[in-house]
Amino acid sequence: MLGVHVHVGSQLSDFDAQAETIVRLAAFAAGCRDELGWVARVADLGGGFGIRHHPADEVPDAAALAASAATTARLAFVEQGLPRPEVWLEPGRCLVGRAGVTLYRVGSVKRLPERTWVAIDGGMSDNPRPQLYDARYTALSAARVDEPVDEVVSVAGMHCESGDVLIDDVALPSPRRGDLLAVPATGAYTLAMASNYNGVPRPAAVLVREGAARVIRVRETIDDLLRPETE
Ligand SMILES: Cc1ncc(COP(=O)(O)O)c(C=O)c1O
Repeated sequence: MLGVHVHVGSQLSDFDAQAETIVRLAAFAAGCRDELGWVARVADLGGGFGIRHHPADEVPDAAALAASAATTARLAFVEQGLPRPEVWLEPGRCLVGRAGVTLYRVGSVKRLPERTWVAIDGGMSDNPRPQLYDARYTALSAARVDEPVDEVVSVAGMHCESGDVLIDDVALPSPRRGDLLAVPATGAYTLAMASNYNGVPRPAAVLVREGAARVIRVRETIDDLLRPETE
């Protein structure tokens, strides 16, 4: 056993919660030394460095948060009379989150007096986070980014569930059937969380680099979904 580990949480919004947790981790390590005679050499501080999924999100700079975590851990361990630990970090989202964009095709646009609904060919099966804990996203009209945004709409998924709302409010160029919607910052906790909710096949994944595109995960088919079934 090399050391002690903690993961404070995801999308950390301040330095205080992180510092408080690390101080407790050091106290725990001191308890291990006193009661078990075992000395932790590694302090693994987990991940949790946030990214902006929505323009209104305010997240501390990941590098500053990581540096502060490492300093706090070293000080807290030394204060407990422990050796200066080797600090490990496990960032996830802040490394890959911004690399992913989810593309949807607009199926229909329904203009009601109180709200305009834009229905897409995806939703809670490819990204359950808005339903799970009200995660917020934004979207762009992928092929019309130079046009003025003149309509605020809600984006609904295709799963026949009242809770299947991907985005509550987003301003777009007046949407129409066939538009492509791009939802940025979906490179983490999206495909990995995707499911076959309501028997919906999961989408393909395409890697784009320097103008070249390569399919890195094929689109699922109905046959894929039926394959495990027996007669
Ligand atoms: C133990 C542990 N380490 C690291 C991570 C990565 O977190 P993030 O992607 O927010 O950096 C998680 C995410 O839940 C986790 O549970």
